[in-house]
Amino acid sequence: MEVLGRWGIVDDLPSIRRQRKVPPRFGEGFRERLKGIPMTESVKGVILVGGQGTRLRPLTLKLPKPMVPIVNRPFLEHMLAHLRSHGIHEVTLAVHYLPDHIRGHFGDGREFGVKLNYAVEPSPRGTAGAVKNAEEYLDCTFFTFNGDVFTDLNLSEMLAYHRRMKARATIALTPVEDPSAFGVVETNAEGRVLRFIEKPKREEAPTNMINAGTYVLEPEVLDLIPPDTFYMFEHGLFPLLLERGERVYAYPSNDYWIDIGNPQQYMRLHHDLLMGRVSVAIPGRVRQEGIWVQDGAVIDPTAKLVPPVVIGESCFIDPGAAVIGPTVLGAGSRIGRGAAVEESIFWAGANIGEDASVKRCILGANCLIGKGVTLPEGSVLGDGERVS
Ligand code: GTP
Repeated sequence: MEVLGRWGIVDDLPSIRRQRKVPPRFGEGFRERLKGIPMTESVKGVILVGGQGTRLRPLTLKLPKPMVPIVNRPFLEHMLAHLRSHGIHEVTLAVHYLPDHIRGHFGDGREFGVKLNYAVEPSPRGTAGAVKNAEEYLDCTFFTFNGDVFTDLNLSEMLAYHRRMKARATIALTPVEDPSAFGVVETNAEGRVLRFIEKPKREEAPTNMINAGTYVLEPEVLDLIPPDTFYMFEHGLFPLLLERGERVYAYPSNDYWIDIGNPQQYMRLHHDLLMGRVSVAIPGRVRQEGIWVQDGAVIDPTAKLVPPVVIGESCFIDPGAAVIGPTVLGAGSRIGRGAAVEESIFWAGANIGEDASVKRCILGANCLIGKGVTLPEGSVLGDGERVS
């Protein structure tokens, strides 16, 4: 069991809002330049889903990060829906770690409204190397996505901007409060990339706009990536494109953006979704504002539900139990008599014993918390863990 410090999620929301500011030079003039550009183009997508997700362990010991549930649906389902809504209907998944989980769930993609290809790496090739490994599927302009970023980025507008600038590569940028842990991208006034600065000291960063991990690329850039080699966009391909004088542009936006790579961020995304800060289809019928109940759930009339909460399929909430939001209960979870669950995310099959108490925790599938146990606040339990 991992135990983390306080999440600090609710407390720092105002600061997140402050972060979401695009510098003035990308203001009205920038949007003006997009007017009159067709927003739909034939385009493909590649999603990088080969990483081991070590920062999300123990949750990712048995499940690859793109499959972790976000309000009771695998992360990748949300992502594919977003791509589809922007006219991307053919997507290649660059897989390496636990690929069978992904292929077993998504198959050829038909059920999810997209055509899916799989490019399997025998060993991790890095971000650009993974895309090179998918080259056979990439014969036109394509998007590259990190498989752990949740965003409502306007892909149609980004593609239109890429076309308008006649760019070879366009990199989405997002503002952060402290860029020192990220790759900062410096541009000129029209958005052409001047240089990349990896993890600058906070006071030395020329801007707070960071590489958001979404790119539009022309297929010719694949010729510059060495085959069968570990190779990265950030340190390899992008600096090389600049050296060669190629047109590399940045697309800044204030759209919602979060990397769910660690438990705090994973939890933060759930808070934001349940509080309506970003739009997503939440499963279940709305029992009252902020309370979504999926099929087959049995909730005792004496149980207390404090919104926002999502009660998964066939959950049992026993007499006198309390479920306090923002909380998501995975399918088949049981909250015992008099137990209290607050600001937590449970994957399917969690069982919380009588009078137990769980606050700001993430529980993997089929965890069992014994009668009267109080879990340390901020605990993250892997699949099948038992605490008594
Ligand atoms: P950590 O181990 O926690 O750092 O996570 P990660 O390596 O899974 O993710 P990271 O944030 O480093 O990478 C961003 C995205 O790129 C994730 O969606 C990863 O799955 C993916 N990724 C990283 N390296 C590779 C790779 O070598 N091959 C492929 N196919 N995907 C990769």
